[in-house]
Amino acid sequence: KPGKFETLDAKNQLALKGGGKQRMQAQHEKGKLSARERLLLLLDEDSFEELDRFVVHRSRDFGLDQQQYLGDGVVTGYGSIEGRLVYVFSQDFTVFGGSLSETHAEKICKIMDLAMKNGAPVIGLNDSGGARIQEGVNSLGGYADVFYRNTKASGVIPQISVIMGPCAGGAVYSPAITDFIFMVNSSAYMFVTGPNVVKTVTQENVSAEELGGATAHATKSGVSHFSCQNEWECLQEVRKLLAYLPQNCEDDVPLAHYKPADETRPILDVIIPERPNQPYDMHELLSALLDEGGFLEVHEEFAKNILVGFGRLAGRSIGIVANQPAALAGVLDIHASVKAARFVRFCDSFNIPLLVLVDVPGFLPGTDQEWNGIISHGAKLLFAFAEATVPRITVITRKAYGGAYDVMNSKHIGADLNFAWPTAEIAVMGPKGAAAIIFKNEIAQAENPEKRLEEKVQEYSEKFANPYLAAERGFIDEVIQPSLTRFKLIRGFKMLENKVDQLPRKKHGNIPL
Ligand code: COA
Repeated sequence: KPGKFETLDAKNQLALKGGGKQRMQAQHEKGKLSARERLLLLLDEDSFEELDRFVVHRSRDFGLDQQQYLGDGVVTGYGSIEGRLVYVFSQDFTVFGGSLSETHAEKICKIMDLAMKNGAPVIGLNDSGGARIQEGVNSLGGYADVFYRNTKASGVIPQISVIMGPCAGGAVYSPAITDFIFMVNSSAYMFVTGPNVVKTVTQENVSAEELGGATAHATKSGVSHFSCQNEWECLQEVRKLLAYLPQNCEDDVPLAHYKPADETRPILDVIIPERPNQPYDMHELLSALLDEGGFLEVHEEFAKNILVGFGRLAGRSIGIVANQPAALAGVLDIHASVKAARFVRFCDSFNIPLLVLVDVPGFLPGTDQEWNGIISHGAKLLFAFAEATVPRITVITRKAYGGAYDVMNSKHIGADLNFAWPTAEIAVMGPKGAAAIIFKNEIAQAENPEKRLEEKVQEYSEKFANPYLAAERGFIDEVIQPSLTRFKLIRGFKMLENKVDQLPRKKHGNIPL
């Protein structure tokens, strides 16, 4: 008879085996790591503490009472990333395909409850065949228990989902509620209904990869925020992202060590091209503006006409929203509005100050946009900015036309500091369109209409296509030399660091979803 310590040892050894050698080998042959190997890569060395290692399911149907694996298909616990506490769960595909049973769900809920009480992020590594089919509604109930907690935790602690294998059916809704989704190229996929169901219902032939692979969700649906080449890179990206985030909604943003230096950036004086319709890459502007380490872009491949992501200014973590003139001239459309709105709300939930860089020719016209609801979707961005109480600074580098001027963190909707470069054009629309409308009759009746139009465009440009009318009204606090922008932003965010602002007392607003 083994002694008490031997029994513990044996149980521990058994738990570490997961679904057994063969299944572990199959997992590796697919180019995938095991649930525990992933946690080792994600967390600081020697920091993982596991909970519920010996939990087993309670099913008695379909012969499941004969098949029990310690841990029941998910490894849960806590550890640290760069020394900061995080809670984790990692689904083990070698045990019932990582499928979610009642007890598997209970394990996830336990660490989510701990995370809420102790104010630290939750990171879920997903690799699962979905609901444990043999358990029926017990498993569905388990999912709903997780979704309910995801919703309650939203805006309280950062929640991150990493998809490293299948994530189908009901399983998708937990990641969908969390703040950021990472997907690994070629091994991860997410869909509500898989290729077989699609084929039966719509007669469409589509592969799992095409339907819900990392590329599909990074470029087409926008469901995923980061797509990564492999699991290692993916887990490193998660570590990187966390460095910009506070631990919870009561915590301050991380402030990295920074040694003051010369903050002028002469390159910014020559970044705006001569011709107003010539594009430039907002990434270049950002790399000149931000601290070393640059821009951690979120949603890099989705709605490229707007950039969102994190960076640092004098060590302070900030969120950035910037129109991208190099893609669709930086126009606002449905996808761009929704992408930016969700990012603004994330930053506002977690006290992350917002920097908004504006070069926007307006909203994208057309039936496609109108019929798909650009009115409601554009309003989300407006609503998100107007509601945000974090420090908010805007810099208009070039165009700020029409309703898009209002939407892009204007003074009128609560921005704290609004700067413009001398190259800014703040007006209802571009000079050409404006002149053609307001001087329509005069141009039509002119001997040389083209020449008259040109004169009128010139006249309109001189009057409106500049930042000075807005500055006269105080809608722009200061027109600044571009090379001084970094300096002004560092001072501005420092000035705003103790900002206190509150929304009127209410249950919650009714953002046009
Ligand atoms: N419930 C219970 N067991 C499951 C499961 C589930 N939802 N999904 C997978 N498994 C088990 C399989 O029975 C298999 O067990 P075994 O190792 O004892 O043979 C193991 O997990 C691996 O599954 P397998 O089908 O061999 O892996 P695969 O890589 O070929 O395919 C899936 C993966 C996810 C595509 C496939 O398992 C599948 O379609 N699962 C069902 C998905 C689903 O409809 N879920 C319910 C909706 S929420």
